Amino acid sequence: MSTIEKLKKIAYEAGEIIKEGYVANKEITHKGVVDIVTQYDVATEKFILNALQKDFSEYILVGEESHEGSYHYDKAIYIDPIDGTTNFVHGFPYLAVSIGVWEKGEPVLAVVYNPLLNEMFWAQKEKGAYLNEKRISVSEQTQLQQSLVGTGFPYAKVNKGIEYQWVIECLSNLLPYIRDIRRLGAAALDLCYLAQGKLDAFYEIDLKPWDTAGGILILEEAGGKVSDVYGESYDFNSKSIVASNGLVHGQLLKKLEKI
Ligand code: IPD
Ligand code: CA
Ligand code: CA
Repeated sequence: MSTIEKLKKIAYEAGEIIKEGYVANKEITHKGVVDIVTQYDVATEKFILNALQKDFSEYILVGEESHEGSYHYDKAIYIDPIDGTTNFVHGFPYLAVSIGVWEKGEPVLAVVYNPLLNEMFWAQKEKGAYLNEKRISVSEQTQLQQSLVGTGFPYAKVNKGIEYQWVIECLSNLLPYIRDIRRLGAAALDLCYLAQGKLDAFYEIDLKPWDTAGGILILEEAGGKVSDVYGESYDFNSKSIVASNGLVHGQLLKKLEKI
């Protein structure tokens, strides 16, 4: 079995745990005021880490629910067992398992799988991006005014600090100049919906490597562009991420506040 097929198999199997949990009673633990985790996030991550240890022993495994310390390694796999836990808890079927394989600071393999809609997004470096068996590519929209733009709100918003101010100012700058906003609730999938041309652009702050590591490769292989809010290249130290079909990138950057 090829490496990408091994990753897909792990994501499909992890998806079975999520499907079971989606309709079950959940134990909810608070990581912050509104940031929550369930026993299914933990169980799904444990399953994925175990499965990866066999075939990917040369990689550092960076899972959201268990990793402590640095995000920067020569060879690492970033795992979000359930991206979209709030949707998972509230019963919205927009969530995914995200697994991104990085080598020397570059993404090389990715799977982002929504088990509830049976959508498997995947990509290999320089070999294109796919949704299930079908090759995908970004939209051809050239006008920011006609763009559907995804975003998300950082958990730090509850402190009403600079993150909250940034969110409000960006919305205020942007809303009159786009078709509409979507806050869908799973950043990894947002990048994939951008990759398949459903969204034209996306931006957010305070995302973690496990949120972006899978979606970035899928987006880039679908012809999209990723930077930070300054237009500089995005890495795991970046506070902001701005992603687009490439064609509306500059127009979007002009409307976003710096942070
Ligand atoms: C969250 C989702 C959400 C984004 C948050 C993330 P989680 O991940 O991706 O869309 O706005 O910033 O933390 O907590 O559901 O894995
Ligand atoms: Ca996440
Ligand atoms: Ca998560």
